[in-house]
Amino acid sequence: MSILNIKIYGEEVLREKAKPVKEINKKIIDLINDMAETMYKAPGVGLAANQVGVLKRIIVIDITVGEDGGKNLIALINPEIVEKEGQMEEDEGCLSLPGINASVKRSAKVTVCGLNIKGKPVKITVSDLLAKALQHEIDHLDGILFVDHLSFAQKFFIQNKLKELKKHGNTKI
Ligand code: NI
Repeated sequence: MSILNIKIYGEEVLREKAKPVKEINKKIIDLINDMAETMYKAPGVGLAANQVGVLKRIIVIDITVGEDGGKNLIALINPEIVEKEGQMEEDEGCLSLPGINASVKRSAKVTVCGLNIKGKPVKITVSDLLAKALQHEIDHLDGILFVDHLSFAQKFFIQNKLKELKKHGNTKI
């Protein structure tokens, strides 16, 4: 396994749409393991393949990251939100936008379909932090970043930080 380089705001790959995975082979499984390791190392609660420069529809999430022994990894291939309900607004951050946090409106509860690492179809219905993480990561696969959801006023507050990130591109911060 290896730690992958996390792409930073300003890099084109974060704005591209990832393609569905057609076959779960060793390469895909290695990628998922590397993404999980990269997420734990960062540490972050989620990572989408775009963020490591790969345009494939794969996400990893662990909302217990950083907690003792908490390795509740969720890895989903070709995830899709099939149902959403309610609304919530909570703070979000992103490994591709270090130093930026803002409150984002999301659905309070979502049902997501996808494949697990073994290629088995899974369907999960989740709320709160996990629902937020799933919506955030699936957004990444469509080239959408959490800052895209902000109001004009919120964007105004972070505009300098965004410019700064864009300038530094892929240099580690
Ligand atoms: Ni993110």
